[in-house]
Amino acid sequence: MTVDKQEVNTWSVARAHTNIALIKYWGKRDEKLFLPTSPSLSLTLDSLYTDTRVRFDPKLSSDELWLAGEKQDDKSTVKITRVIDLFRARYSVPEQTPRMRVESVNHVPTAAGLASSSSGFAALAWALRDAFESAFPQTVAMDDRELSTFARRGSGSATRSIFGGFVEWSYGTGSNDSCAIPVDDARWDVAMVLAAISTQHKKISSTYGMKHTAETSSFYSLWREASEQDLATVREGIRERDIDKIGAAMEANCMKFHATMFAANPPFTYLTSRSWRVIEFVHEMRDSGLSVYFTMDAGPNVKILCRASEQQFVHDKLAERFPEITLFDALPGSGPETLSKDKWAQ
Ligand code: DP6
Repeated sequence: MTVDKQEVNTWSVARAHTNIALIKYWGKRDEKLFLPTSPSLSLTLDSLYTDTRVRFDPKLSSDELWLAGEKQDDKSTVKITRVIDLFRARYSVPEQTPRMRVESVNHVPTAAGLASSSSGFAALAWALRDAFESAFPQTVAMDDRELSTFARRGSGSATRSIFGGFVEWSYGTGSNDSCAIPVDDARWDVAMVLAAISTQHKKISSTYGMKHTAETSSFYSLWREASEQDLATVREGIRERDIDKIGAAMEANCMKFHATMFAANPPFTYLTSRSWRVIEFVHEMRDSGLSVYFTMDAGPNVKILCRASEQQFVHDKLAERFPEITLFDALPGSGPETLSKDKWAQ
């Protein structure tokens, strides 16, 4: 079996959107397989995404990664080779098959501090499936849930970007079923406003932060138990389309998630004084009757869940109070899509 001549030099192009966790993933029970210590649930967003194109390139002796037109070093390239190798094994690719050139562009406003590995690895996985399926059509087709287990091996949060709307990443019994499950398309009165508080590169990566927390935090087992309960409440809120139920459980989960880090040894936090000021203002807006709730990840940025019908109003209030903070509006986004070659990086 060899790659068809036509497939060489043919790009497979994909777009995938970022997601924000309402119920956080924060720890691996198996580091090699990226199996989570608890299930998580997120909302895929429309306005922040990554475009990636891949092709088999006979001129290469090893895989290459280009980000925004710049060739990446071995440290970054190794991570994508790890994922490509899984596809090579899945599609029983012969040894002599050319290595891959991967090019990627983040459509997350530059330096906003919101760039996420979730859209990056989801777009990579989607483009790779297209490339391997056209080159090796005789192999059993891969469905989206299986694909999400491949995206997972690049970065855990990428699992959930394989679907749009509200998506759960199940705990699973093992590597094959710790996958993404679409819960609801969220095409109702749901939106987010993202407050980009800092443009600085995070000092403690999520990969390291979760490992350190899982290994040393005295709150960690409590967190896992409480997280399961928060997840059940969010699921219920989604079924009932009750933004207040979803938001309250999301916010509670976020507070417990950050509390695990306060109880780590040594302790650390991603919260800054600016984050707290935005959080206090979210409470103030809520006291005035708006359905607004916050969550934060492994960085100081605050993500605010609100009604789509009130998004503009919430945005304007935040802009008025914090003119120095850049805000991004987002609505629920769809799962990844295959793009035509001429759509690349537009
Ligand atoms: C706080 O998916 O970036 O955003 O699997 O090690 O690549 P790795 O970590 P990553 O962690 C995301 C953590 C989080 C919570 C979440 O998205 O669920």
